[in-house]
Amino acid sequence: MNASPKSIKVLMVCLGNICRSPTAQGIFEKYVEESHLKQHIEVDSAGTGNWHIGESPDIRSLKAAARRGYDISGQRARQIMPDDYTHFDYILAMDIMNLKELERDCPPRFRQNLRLFMTFGDFDYNSVPDPYHSGPDGFELVLDLVEEASQNLLDYIIKLHDLRSDQ
Ligand code: 4NP
Repeated sequence: MNASPKSIKVLMVCLGNICRSPTAQGIFEKYVEESHLKQHIEVDSAGTGNWHIGESPDIRSLKAAARRGYDISGQRARQIMPDDYTHFDYILAMDIMNLKELERDCPPRFRQNLRLFMTFGDFDYNSVPDPYHSGPDGFELVLDLVEEASQNLLDYIIKLHDLRSDQ
């Protein structure tokens, strides 16, 4: 069943929307589903750049995610658009460069909804490093960081919004 209109809405944002943010969307969606909270939390992702619009996630991200049980193959890249700033409650940037882009374009009254995704992480990272030009280790690091931050983000949202599972 689709999320209800009263859902908490979460948007993951990176540069190309083919590596980090689709991974974050897929992992966070799975955690939401496993917690039986699909009716309460909507998840999406977007890129600040426009180079990959309409494309599937990068094959390296897709395969690395699949090895850990996340299917992100149905996602297609899109660019962030003005309506996103008014629609989403949490707009989570994968790195500081993308956060700055969002801050530049976001209407001031919605800027409080912008954050670095890794503020929810436990690691010594404030950003999820861009794996696009890296080797396989870069994609594994993305998964490690995103899994940790996603669990913490979900715990935070459940507590703050007093969400109860659909079961
Ligand atoms: P993402 O990775 O922002 O995690 O999707 C990138 C994808 C593509 C490019 C850069 C980063 N690019 O330069 O095309």
